[in-house]
Amino acid sequence: MARILTGIQSTGIPHMGNILGAIKPMVKFSGEPQNDAFAFIADLHSVTTIKDAEVRKFNTDSVAAAWIACGFDYKKNTMYRQSDVPEVTELTWYLSCFAPYPMLANAHSFKDKSSRLSEVNAGLFTYPVLMAADIIGYDADIVPVGKDQVQHLEITRDIAGAVNNHYGEEIFVIPAASVDDNVKVIPGTDGQKMSKSYNNTINVFLPEKELRKSVMSIITDSTPLEEPKNPDTCNVYQLYRIIATAEQQEQMRNKYLAGGFGYGHAKQELYELILVYFKEERERFSHLMSNPAELDAILMEGAGKARKVITGVLKRVRGKLGFQINKN
Ligand code: ADP
Ligand code: TRP
Repeated sequence: MARILTGIQSTGIPHMGNILGAIKPMVKFSGEPQNDAFAFIADLHSVTTIKDAEVRKFNTDSVAAAWIACGFDYKKNTMYRQSDVPEVTELTWYLSCFAPYPMLANAHSFKDKSSRLSEVNAGLFTYPVLMAADIIGYDADIVPVGKDQVQHLEITRDIAGAVNNHYGEEIFVIPAASVDDNVKVIPGTDGQKMSKSYNNTINVFLPEKELRKSVMSIITDSTPLEEPKNPDTCNVYQLYRIIATAEQQEQMRNKYLAGGFGYGHAKQELYELILVYFKEERERFSHLMSNPAELDAILMEGAGKARKVITGVLKRVRGKLGFQINKN
């Protein structure tokens, strides 16, 4: 049985890039019988940038609802809010005492954030140690992540290895990152990588009117309606082909090449396809968002399962450090 674990920060409603690039691949792992999948909402990490309670709560619920709406099997597996498992912060402290300062100071993501943000707090600096505790605390074998998180996984492996070396035994599992090269980078409305930071997202969980508005905002060139168009350079077609069947792709390509088919028509078809493709996900998402008690019960049950696992791991390290091991 392999333990597969990943987290998503609670920084907004997951967009199409998050869903196709991170949530769906994890949902697939969760359905395979040989895997024991842990999916969590990294709401403690979000404190580095979000200080408002209501905003965090909404974002946290949105990420949880998105995991479930997209089919994460939380009954067979484990799904929880990071903050419901306070043991992770204790482990973070122990790990930070094994993490070399220069390794954290040189992390790309810290350098990037500290050059962009006006407020550079210590949480941004120790962010990778909390992430290491998220992973090490659950004996994770495999961690599916995007390319941008690979260095954080290296840091995690280094810290786990440093502890194991120090005591000369396998206290922690050394995890491996899994970067799926088949998961394409989903383009945003401007053709760059879809990202909350670029303001170019398509949010498939929005009400129809707003969703349509974001599809209509996709940037296209000014080729007149009657002229043939190139699907391969068009942002609308690039998004369409990701969710369309081979037959739908073929038909759409032909319309582009024939002319007499405007970008407005293409956007309308993309909008309609999104509604069909994500129909069940949209329904489940809005059900969960309007039933917070149901969502909360699912998350609390997951936190119970997660706490059992991390408590066992903590005992191993507490014992080595000379602390009480029967605290809880
Ligand atoms: P954002 O760039 O919108 O802030 P995050 O950094 O929070 O997104 O990413 C959360 C997860 O979604 C990560 O695993 C990341 O690799 C994945 N992801 C984000 N944007 C895309 C995209 N455009 N295409 C594919 N995967 C993406
Ligand atoms: N840092 C990750 C991101 O921004 C989120 C995250 C936090 C995570 N803890 C994790 C991902 C543990 C995988 C494993 O995408």
